[in-house]
Amino acid sequence: MAAGIDDIAIYIPRLFIDAADFAKARGLDPEKLQKGLGVSQMAIVDTNQDPACLAANACLQIMQKNKLSPEDIGRLYVSTESSFDESKAMNSYVIGMLEQVYGQGAFEHCGGVETKFACVSGSYALYDNTNWIRAGEAEGKQALVVVSDIAKYDLGSSGEMTQGAGAVVMLLNDEPRLLAFDPKVTATSIKDEYDFYRPFGKETPIVHGQYSNLLYMIQVRKALEIYKKKALSSGLMKLEPGETILDHMDYLNMHLPYSNMGKKALAYLIRHEWRQLPRWKKLIQDMGMLEPVPKDPRGTIESVLGDEEFMAKDHEFTKLFTKTKEFQEVYESKLASSLIASKMIGNLYTASLYLGFRSCLEFEYQKGIDLNGKRVGFGSYGSGSSAMVFSGLIQPQYEEVVKNMNLEAELAPRRKLTLQEYEILHENKLSPEEPMLNTKREFILVDVNTTTESRGERRYIFNE
Ligand code: CAA
Repeated sequence: MAAGIDDIAIYIPRLFIDAADFAKARGLDPEKLQKGLGVSQMAIVDTNQDPACLAANACLQIMQKNKLSPEDIGRLYVSTESSFDESKAMNSYVIGMLEQVYGQGAFEHCGGVETKFACVSGSYALYDNTNWIRAGEAEGKQALVVVSDIAKYDLGSSGEMTQGAGAVVMLLNDEPRLLAFDPKVTATSIKDEYDFYRPFGKETPIVHGQYSNLLYMIQVRKALEIYKKKALSSGLMKLEPGETILDHMDYLNMHLPYSNMGKKALAYLIRHEWRQLPRWKKLIQDMGMLEPVPKDPRGTIESVLGDEEFMAKDHEFTKLFTKTKEFQEVYESKLASSLIASKMIGNLYTASLYLGFRSCLEFEYQKGIDLNGKRVGFGSYGSGSSAMVFSGLIQPQYEEVVKNMNLEAELAPRRKLTLQEYEILHENKLSPEEPMLNTKREFILVDVNTTTESRGERRYIFNE
């Protein structure tokens, strides 16, 4: 049975900071953000928004757009790493908000949980719900998987350049108009790691930035190896001599903590895949530089990062490689469109991969390309750490959905924050009753109870 993504909707907060203003305030070269990381703007939540609000707003949008009633929905999952309760699942808040519009008890029949594994948990939620449909358990109902996050780092930290906020919701069913997942090829890797984590009670993560960058690429490569075995043994793909599995993917969507991480990861995966092929020898000749090898090729991530000579040479090699015609061709045709939204919005943690997918659809369609039957490969990564590689085929009815996508219109109207306003919001100096914007027809947070007996209870309204 086919199963996959029928429609996709996004909710992005209307406040943002500009990368150039931010760089100036932190004494950084704006080029580091704009060119080095690929960050132009970062969406910021208002005082009356939390990740549950973002998720509920995205859900309402997809339900209204598809004229769905609560009876059509059998499961509602929320994946996040911005949880504010250790026990009560975020989807329960979302259901509570949706029932303010659809009537109390309207979603009573529905199931679902909040899933957590840093930025990869949404991919696990998609996989589990796809299998719920494939198993015939859905009984005609559809699933909503929402990925919602506020990417927030300490003021003055290196992660502060890679913030953002927003939610993406995907409607899954057995006649998907957008993408049907390839069966039996989903591959995972997992390892107990401390690259990025957020201990109980801490609002911002503890991050080992360069370690996390390298671990992301290693874990995704490991998952890709498993994907490759499955794709070949299941007959999904057949490699001719000189081909790699990546040649059989028309698009690659990567986890995007910042947009250039997609390019970095693509270069890493391609180097790994092409190294054994005849095309590599020619490329090395043309580049005039041998691929560097660390002093201890079997060493740890720390030993590789500590090998300064190797790191400098590898950086030089990567720069040369990413400028080659061969890399540029793959980059432009398979990845570039997926990075556009990330540049304008920033990091969405769990949602960043799926914002990238949405961006890929919209901007490839605008090029006039027929997307029917194109294979999309996904490289999902969550710190801590786990990666997931999977794929799917764009479906014949995709145009019905994609023709109406318009990121610029959906983001507008946005308000640019001054750095002073941003820092006030960042440090939680204002209460939900003091928002920067007065939005209409959206779910907002009204208050969080502070009394001993009901501490942490959240009250939301739909702002008519
Ligand atoms: N002009 C142009 N480019 C410049 C520049 C300038 N003046 N100065 C620096 N750059 C370039 C650098 O060359 C580099 O590009 P390359 O990697 O292509 O060489 C890029 O800008 C970034 O520079 P640095 O690597 O020196 O930046 P940094 O170390 O200060 O911070 C970071 C980068 C480590 C990603 C940091 O922002 C961070 O810690 N972010 C949070 C962690 C993170 O996002 N990790 C990603 C993988 S883990 C994950 O994905 C989970 C998750 O969602 C958080």
